[in-house]
Amino acid sequence: MANFFLKKDVNRLIADVAVGNETGHRLKRTLGPFNLIMLGVGAIIGAGIFSLTGTAAANYAGPGIVYSFIIGGILCAFAGLCYAEMAAMVPVSGSAYAYSYATLGELIAWIIGWDLILEYAFGSVTVATSWSGYFCSLLTKTMGIQVSDEWIRLTKGPWELVTLSDGSQVLGWWNLPATLVSLGLAGILYRGIQESAFINNLIVVVKLAIILSFIALGWAVIDPLHWIGNSEVTGLARLVPPASMALRNGREVMSFGWPGVLTGAGVVFFAYIGFDAISTTAQECKNPSRDLPIGILVSLIACTILYILMALVLTGVVPYQQLGVPDPIAVGVDRIVSLRGWSEGGQKIFSFVVKIGALAGLTSVILVLMLGQTRIIYAMAKDGLLPWFDHLSKRFSTPDVATFATGLFVATCAGLLPMSLVGELVSIGTLLAFVLVCVGIPILRIKNPNIHRPFKTPFYWLVAPLGALSCFWVMTGLPRDTWIRLVVWLFIGFCIYFGYSSKHSKLRIEREGTQK
Ligand code: ALA
Repeated sequence: MANFFLKKDVNRLIADVAVGNETGHRLKRTLGPFNLIMLGVGAIIGAGIFSLTGTAAANYAGPGIVYSFIIGGILCAFAGLCYAEMAAMVPVSGSAYAYSYATLGELIAWIIGWDLILEYAFGSVTVATSWSGYFCSLLTKTMGIQVSDEWIRLTKGPWELVTLSDGSQVLGWWNLPATLVSLGLAGILYRGIQESAFINNLIVVVKLAIILSFIALGWAVIDPLHWIGNSEVTGLARLVPPASMALRNGREVMSFGWPGVLTGAGVVFFAYIGFDAISTTAQECKNPSRDLPIGILVSLIACTILYILMALVLTGVVPYQQLGVPDPIAVGVDRIVSLRGWSEGGQKIFSFVVKIGALAGLTSVILVLMLGQTRIIYAMAKDGLLPWFDHLSKRFSTPDVATFATGLFVATCAGLLPMSLVGELVSIGTLLAFVLVCVGIPILRIKNPNIHRPFKTPFYWLVAPLGALSCFWVMTGLPRDTWIRLVVWLFIGFCIYFGYSSKHSKLRIEREGTQK
């Protein structure tokens, strides 16, 4: 039994990377701090802000969504500090999987690696389906292109309803735009990290420009009356509508008030997912020990500030009751341009530009999450826990088998599965990974106090437990169905671990060899 808790020696992990560098069997080191920050922003700002903010405001928190974002940002800052310490200390491409191999042992590392597949692969699936929604809305609503009923059925998977031209509702066939965008991005990833980073940088510039203009144009036309949930209250509570019971999915639930703000924090947590994905590129950074903490923390702080400002503007220009739509930012834009008295032509152009910005934003999220996915399975295969995926392309030095497998998996799931099913699974998987990373920090500080730590989590004895507890607390707020799916996913993972991985683990084979 003890073998399942074999730990990699941290110094050995670092040395393995150095050997790879010397022998040339390695990923290319091309990323600097700027690219890492851009990758972080690329992965963070996406479906969370462009789609989920509206639902969270309308259903749970009202204008108090601003506080939900602050709470989400603080939770992620705890986890982000722990990630930064780990990533700087053990700059290898497996991210949380590799850190836990050195701190908590092989079985837990497997669970994290398996769990990160939920985060990165299913995260890409979720965002690809949101991408498809914005894409279709751009073509049909903004550009007025007429499409046939067959095409309409090719924009949703077989478990989702689509409305045909005669108003009837039928099930979709296959979400083709989501599949195509996933395959296209897998192709870019295959070409190389530098090409991927360059394309990501371009996309991030577009999405930041759109977001900043939304904030700048909206700020001047905010009507503070939209923020006041209850005119009798003052101070911070002015953003929080009074608590009430509401019927959602056939169940009575409490929304608004401070409990609603907390539920909103669980929902918008998805908007922060992705900052950790940059730590999977450790072996492709020029100076990972210095630059990874910079990339993680700067991108997280920048996105938290942007989210808070966007939430203030959105709930300040549109009454929160009207935000429960899939494209709340587009609703906000329409309101801003009409409040500013723009002509109809101006409105159309701005709406077009914003949808392009949203599409750009979503594209970079899929790109970076898929990048993270390929690097995780590459690292797991290098340790012998998965077959095939450690192969590197001779031409591009990228993990080609891992990239093809990820592309096919994401493209197929995005074509078939509904966004709602996978979205919460992504959140629970990510939160579990965060909990385990936060737990690993104090363990490693106690067990390996002398290891070189280029970045140290400040007040780790407080930050790490708070990070673990707060992430677990958000997990407990997720629905029971999501927990059941997590358990099923972990069960499948255990079957693979005990059936294949534990027998092929290079670390285990090596240790058993030395004992004979
Ligand atoms: N944070 C990413 C998004 O909101 C996953 O799309």
